[in-house]
This record gives sequence, structure tokens and C-alpha cells, in this order.
Amino acid sequence: MIVRLDDPRAAAEWCATERAARRTLGFVPTMGALHAGHVSLVRRALEENDVVCVSVFVNPLQFDEAQDFDHYPRDLGRDVELLDEAGCSMVFTGTLAQFFPAELDAAGRLRPEHWIEPGAAARGLEGACRSGHFEGVATIVDRLFEVVAPTRAYFGQKDYQQALVVGELARARGGPEVCVCAIAREAHGLARSSRNERLSADHRERAGVIHRALLAADELWRRGERDADVLANELRTVLNTEPQLELEYAELRDPQAWTAEAPHERLDQAVALIAGRFGPVRLIDNRVLGEAP
Ligand code: PAJ
Repeated sequence: MIVRLDDPRAAAEWCATERAARRTLGFVPTMGALHAGHVSLVRRALEENDVVCVSVFVNPLQFDEAQDFDHYPRDLGRDVELLDEAGCSMVFTGTLAQFFPAELDAAGRLRPEHWIEPGAAARGLEGACRSGHFEGVATIVDRLFEVVAPTRAYFGQKDYQQALVVGELARARGGPEVCVCAIAREAHGLARSSRNERLSADHRERAGVIHRALLAADELWRRGERDADVLANELRTVLNTEPQLELEYAELRDPQAWTAEAPHERLDQAVALIAGRFGPVRLIDNRVLGEAP
């Protein structure tokens, strides 16, 4: 039976007990509304560690739009059930005030000196489109790592740039080991996301264009194309066939050398990254070109 704790201090004690018993601790941070993508992270963590814990916290620090935060789906009862079934040992939640008991001002906002500045991977794309987003991610993930002090922490490739930012953060603080897990997709290719629940049936169908664009660029890559601009054009050509998609970006990056701006030269390795909206719902996806699906 899963242990459920509603206070990060209680979670820290639980984790300390596990570490004292010399059990390895896998950690999966989430914002809840769990789906098969989250569960795949939990499964992998279970394979590689003695016990696994999950946090469910819709972190207000990382939302650049109040509307997105207000409408973010929440269903803790179902999350706990899913995690229990998956074999997770402990799930914890908390409030901003519980995570940062001494760091909020009188209005309940995190004081500026307590924000964590993310590294170079936060520049460009998501960092450019969502002001303050990676500061909010780095700040909560740093605090979660402090609470849990895991052996390994698991993140999805779905949030490609986030995984890079968290990797930089973990290196800067001397741990934990960050493990990046493959993207779980719906039947027609749409990357699973808690936000998909807010898509209309029509938009959900149309959103398959994002995966098709990634596959088209992948196909060009496999045929030997290495020019970043040609590959990016291929992404946009496919995406432009869907009039209801409001495209934010469709770009390439070198996965070994993150740059804020899109590269224009020949690439020896490449990741294609896309962000766009269907109505009020913002979706992101990516693919490392030439990699097994
Ligand atoms: P959330 O969006 O809930 O995602 C939690 C973890 O699940 C992230 O590492 C994310 O990349 C991964 N994930 C989401 N969809 C996935 C999919 N389709 N396949 C594989 N993995 C997937 O990301 C966050 O929460 C937050 O930013 C957080 C790290 C918890 C900090 O607040």
C-alpha cells in the first residue's frame, strides 16, 4: 500500500529513513494529472531503485500564464491510485508555503533572492517563449531534490529542454543522477500530456500533425540530409498543412551543444523541437533525428 504524505517535511523524514536503511531511492517529480508517460518514468525508476517516490505539485512558480495554472487538471485521488498500482512506495504533495516556509514575502510570493537561476540550456525556445518558466522549474526541482535527496531522478524527454536544464542543475549541486526517459505517445502519435485532456476531440485529432512533422524531418535525416535549415523547413512545411495550429517554433538544435538561436549549418546530430497551440492549449514535442522511435 502506497504511503501518502501531504507535507514535504514528512516526506523528507520518510526519505531519510529509506536512505538510512541503505535503500536506493528513485524520484519522479510531477505536477499530477498522471498518464502513461508519468507511469513509464515510475516503472523505469522501480527497475533501477529499491524504492520510488513521486511528488505531485502544480508549481505556481513555473507558470507564465495564470490561465494555464488555473486550468491545469488536478485529480490527486486518481493519481494516488495509479501510483499505487504501478508499485510506487510514497507520494507527497505540499503547498508553496510548505515548500518554502521561510522564503515567502507577506503576499505569499517567493522573495527574489530565493529563485534559482537556470544554466545555459534555459536560453532560447521554451526559455524565450515562456518568460520565467525555467527559473520556476529550477527553483522547485532544486527544493524537491533537497527534500528527497534521491539516488536517481527521472525526467521525460517530452520536455527536452527541461531535462537539459535539470541535468545542468544536478551537476551544479553535485547530484542526483538524472535519467531521461523516452516519450510516451497516444495511438496517432501525439505525445502524452496532462494538457491533452483540455483539447477538443477535433483538435486532439489535428494535433497528430506535430508527430508527422517530426517523422518527416526524421525521414529526410535518414536519407542523408544534414542541413539545419532544410530540416527545419521540412518541419514547417508539414505543420503549415494544419490551419488550426498556431505555431510558436519548429527548429533544430545540436543535442550536444545547446544554443539559444537556431543553427544554420550542417549538423552531425540533431534534435527537432516544436511548440504550438490548438486554441488555448499549448503543446510541445521533439525527436532526436535518426534515433530509434
Ligand atoms: P509534468 O508535466 O507533470 O511532468 C512530469 C515528468 O513527466 C516530466 O519529467 C515530464 O517530462 C514527464 N513526461 C510528461 N509527459 C511525458 C510523456 N509523454 N512521455 C514521457 N515522459 C513524460 O515536468 C513537470 O511536470 C514539471 O516541470 C516538474 C519537473 C514536475 C517541476 O515542476
